[in-house]
Amino acid sequence: MPKKTKPEPTVFIVFGGTGDLNARKITPALFNLYLDGWLPDEFAIIGTGRTEFTDEQFRKNLLGGVDQFSRKGKADKKIWQEFSSHIFYQVADVNNAKAYDKFADRIEQHKKDWEKDPCVVHYLAVAPRFFSVIAENVAKSKLADYLPTTRIVVEKPFGRDLESAKELNALLQSIFDESQIYRIDHYLGKETVQNILAFRFANAMFEPIWNRNYIDNVQISVSEQLGMEGRGSYYDTAGALRDMVQNHLFQLLCLVAMEPPVSYEADEVRNRRVDVVNALRRIRPEEIGEYAVRGQYGAGWIEGEKVESYHHEEDVPKDSSQNTYAALKLFVENWRWNGVPFYLRTGKRMNEKKSVITIQFKPVPHQSFPAQTAANWQPNRLIIEIYPCVGIRLEFQAKRPGPEMLLSPVDMQFNYDEFDAADTPEAYETLLLDIMEGDSTLFMRADQVEAAWRVLMPIVDAWDDTPATDFPNYESGSWGPAEADALIAKAGHSWASAPGID
Ligand code: BG6
Repeated sequence: MPKKTKPEPTVFIVFGGTGDLNARKITPALFNLYLDGWLPDEFAIIGTGRTEFTDEQFRKNLLGGVDQFSRKGKADKKIWQEFSSHIFYQVADVNNAKAYDKFADRIEQHKKDWEKDPCVVHYLAVAPRFFSVIAENVAKSKLADYLPTTRIVVEKPFGRDLESAKELNALLQSIFDESQIYRIDHYLGKETVQNILAFRFANAMFEPIWNRNYIDNVQISVSEQLGMEGRGSYYDTAGALRDMVQNHLFQLLCLVAMEPPVSYEADEVRNRRVDVVNALRRIRPEEIGEYAVRGQYGAGWIEGEKVESYHHEEDVPKDSSQNTYAALKLFVENWRWNGVPFYLRTGKRMNEKKSVITIQFKPVPHQSFPAQTAANWQPNRLIIEIYPCVGIRLEFQAKRPGPEMLLSPVDMQFNYDEFDAADTPEAYETLLLDIMEGDSTLFMRADQVEAAWRVLMPIVDAWDDTPATDFPNYESGSWGPAEADALIAKAGHSWASAPGID
């Protein structure tokens, strides 16, 4: 990963330009990059959709998104004017190859004005069923002339199983070189997530104990309070396993478990990540009950407000057996991690929105202190906090002040707030800049996506094929189904962020 510089002249085409993702994430991120001086002087953003809009109307809609969702708050009028003069709208039906020539004409015009060949980014902010047709039409239309300097960005979900992911990879790779394909997982752009690598590999003191000899178990927990928020029709085809585990939680697992890369080159880091997925124990269909628990929320209370069950969500069938919660016990079968359970869990409508990784160390080999000195004794824990706190916390034992020898756990803490939070980019800002600079370190390579599906397919198939009979099995506002506690209690463990423990 080279030091960041301003990207080359770029034409950024957003398919699905009138959609939610563009309004909430992509345009606010591009605007912030502009504010921070990261965009080149020669850039153009072309949004596309099926509805007719003038450039002015389109810009106005996007301003609404920036004002509402940007981390920097409402846009300054004058600066927005300058920035939005680079935004254009082109109505197009993505199924019609002819329509794509209009983008090529626009690029040609920019090329003339700038007197330079621009880099062309096709951002597919559309439903997955359009990924293939857009890629094919790019290749069939005049846009093909720009293929050597084109990048294509694909949002998740990348496939809905191993077969469809392979098909999509094959199609994309028949048009683009792998180095031109950017499969986004926004978790990789989060500051603390990237900081896991710095923490592990820029410090000498943690790596010697980062293995089965010292670590008892690892927990990766991503809980959300939100329900469907209008996304029911998508979510009911995905569920927690496809929506969160196959991508976001697996990325976190890879960063915690990977071997030290020789360099911070994209392929070296990606090789080490994919090694982790390839080392995951394959779960046989008959063993799924020992390794995985699914859940679906019923009605309940969140922050004092009554919320409905999953079955009452808009666009969700009343008898849906889709999972909104998943917990897994995984093993990375290699020299470093043999025998160490990695517990993953994620769910909607849980008690708190919280993302944490807990590295639970083994107890001391011998207790020098009498049992009564340490009523509240706990083995060391290293907690990587991703949300809402952003930082790293080490829990260790200390002597309580006073005449007696009494021990209690204390924290050593690093908070990201110690840096200027306003300077902390959002995941999408980091990732969009990387795309424009051609740096794919923080993106998923074809083999990683397929490897992740390969590991999960037995569970995906079993859960798709056998509808759950006990849904809903957790109340909204709870910490998920009791079976998930049982899943890890078998090995004497409990979820670290359960109330009263953290
Ligand atoms: C998205 C999922 O990829 O990630 C959503 O589709 C989920 O269902 C979201 O809510 C969570 O992201 P974050 O950054 O809020 O943890």
